[in-house]
Amino acid sequence: MLRLQSPLPDRYSDATGLELDQWIKAAKNTLGDRLFILGHHYQRDDVIQWADARGDSFRLSVLAQDNPDADYIVFCGVHFMAESADILTADHQSVVLPDLNAGCSMADMADIDEVEEAWDALATVVDIERVMPITYMNSAANLKAFVGRHGGAVCTSTNARAVLDWALTPDPETGESRADQVLFFPDQHLGRNTGFTMGYDESDMRIWDPRMERGGLSEADCKDATFLLWKGHCSVHQRFRPEHIAAFRQQYPDGKIVAHPECARDVCELADSVGSTDHIIRYVEAAPEGSVIGVATEIHLVQRLDKETDGVKVVSLDPLICPCSTMNRIDRQHLAWVLENLVDGKVVNQITVEPAVTAEAKLALDLMLQIT
Ligand code: 13P
Ligand code: SF4
Repeated sequence: MLRLQSPLPDRYSDATGLELDQWIKAAKNTLGDRLFILGHHYQRDDVIQWADARGDSFRLSVLAQDNPDADYIVFCGVHFMAESADILTADHQSVVLPDLNAGCSMADMADIDEVEEAWDALATVVDIERVMPITYMNSAANLKAFVGRHGGAVCTSTNARAVLDWALTPDPETGESRADQVLFFPDQHLGRNTGFTMGYDESDMRIWDPRMERGGLSEADCKDATFLLWKGHCSVHQRFRPEHIAAFRQQYPDGKIVAHPECARDVCELADSVGSTDHIIRYVEAAPEGSVIGVATEIHLVQRLDKETDGVKVVSLDPLICPCSTMNRIDRQHLAWVLENLVDGKVVNQITVEPAVTAEAKLALDLMLQIT
């Protein structure tokens, strides 16, 4: 997806780290309670230090909604998160993304035309009223709107299980479920890993490849699958392999492994625990003194956990460190630039979701918050 970030004025690109810190601090002081800076756990240290609150994508969406007094929500994260914040915040609040090119390659793997096409193709072979669309938070606002329009919900890695249970598990009183099938996009791995924790297996799942006719599936496949999993993935989490786990276990026989559910099934199967970034943090915090924990997630969080957790050694499972390049686009230069503009009364890089999309996407986001 094309997003255009104009080059920064020289004042910012030529500044020293010390100057940037001073400018950010001064702008924060001037803006006071009118400003609320949110930081995703994958942000760099020199950015996250300025966040008023840190969190995973679920917590940040709740926090955005729970801060109605701030006029400006500066979102140090990626585009889909800022869009969700704009949907959940009041009209008088402006959401700002410091670098417009901070997207998410996984979110870009599903677009509205492909999803509409998939829906229409499925409708020719299955009872579409019994298919629930579920979108991962990592998706564009118009996909969340699509889901809202069709009675489905958004999920994050924190609540994917609850949302999928809501869709598929029969009500104990009526014996009826809301749906027989889910179309889950864009991350196949989160869908698959969550399905396994619910007791389903590979035979209940099919991959929907948007580049192929009817997703590359036969009519029978479309009918048989409980989970139709969009062929999307996170390039950061897909790097982790079972070989990394084997190497870690050899080096640290008493060590424990915690993985993000965007990792492939064969990695999650071998991990001691699987969960969102918040889950990973709690897992490390609960580890006994002297533990070694191997973590399969983005490197900034892994390194920060190692630094901030006394008595526990936290290592990345992948020795070839791979940051999320789009999260990494948010830097102090861009943060200082947006904040100084706010001080001057100019809102740059505002993320605005159009009202019609907001209304439908909010249905799907509110449903997620209700279920959770
Ligand atoms: P969380 O929901 O754990 O914050 O994950 C978001 C994300 O982009 C992970 O790659
Ligand atoms: Fe997207 Fe992966 Fe980066 Fe998360 S880590 S923002 S899923 S590219």
